[in-house]
Amino acid sequence: MKVGTISNYINKKTVVIFLIQLILVITLLGYQAWRNSSVECLKCHSDKEKMAKLNYPQFYVTQEMIENEAKHPNVKCHECHLGNGRSNDPDKAHKGMLRVLLVGHNGQMLNRKNIYPYALLPSGDDKIREMLPKIKGNGALEPHPEVRNVLWHDRNIETFNFDPDIAKKTCGKAECHPEELKQFNTTIMATNFRQRTMRTWLEPYGPQN
Ligand code: HEC
Ligand code: HEC
Repeated sequence: MKVGTISNYINKKTVVIFLIQLILVITLLGYQAWRNSSVECLKCHSDKEKMAKLNYPQFYVTQEMIENEAKHPNVKCHECHLGNGRSNDPDKAHKGMLRVLLVGHNGQMLNRKNIYPYALLPSGDDKIREMLPKIKGNGALEPHPEVRNVLWHDRNIETFNFDPDIAKKTCGKAECHPEELKQFNTTIMATNFRQRTMRTWLEPYGPQN
């Protein structure tokens, strides 16, 4: 008795095609799993001597530090920062990486390396300006003259708004918080619902009416 017809199609050619497809899928999944790593970020940033040699001891960061700070066990650097966690060359590793945004007075992005290569820590007595980079003025600390604003890396660098694409690759990715992102994207805050309907400052209604 004959069961099904698949056997009619099995010959040398179909077996070879099937095997090639299987190898391609396994290679692709394997590559993705291999890339899903922050091993090189850690090897460099968690090596105190190496970071000192590279003249950036202030960017010494360990797995333990980020787990404590972010309260996320097992979270990896690239899950928040993107970048290439398999490259041991800082420039290649940092390509496409998300980092703090220092904004200048004309709304342009500043290069942190040139402007403020130090650790970004709260400073001064003014709570509102606590996170702005400071320099030593006449005795007291003053806001850095070139820096207008500091934004965290979840913003779109063109519009400075919340960027759903960045959120999708980081906080909102499948293994993390996709449902929260879906819900947030429908809110008045995420869609900038009120401001986007305004066309002028005053009439018929605007932010200054
Ligand atoms: C071989 C060493 C090395 C590797 C690998 C490396 N970094 Fe860095 N990282 C540095 C050095 C040195 C700096 C400071 C100079 C600079 O900004 O390039 C830095 C700076 C940074 C900054 C601050 C940049 C800024 O402008 O505020 C972040 C964030 C960062 N690294 C995260 C990462 C992540 C995430 C990875 C992996 C994807 C990574 N790094 C891989 C050495 C490294
Ligand atoms: C839970 C999310 C998250 C994880 C995981 C994470 N970071 Fe960060 N990191 C941030 C945020 C947010 C900032 C603040 C600046 C910004 O917006 O990028 C930051 C800042 C930094 C800075 C700059 C510090 C300064 O003084 O400005 C460095 C360097 C850095 N991270 C490296 C790392 C490395 C290396 C890892 C992995 C061991 C890592 N980060 C893991 C979210 C994260």
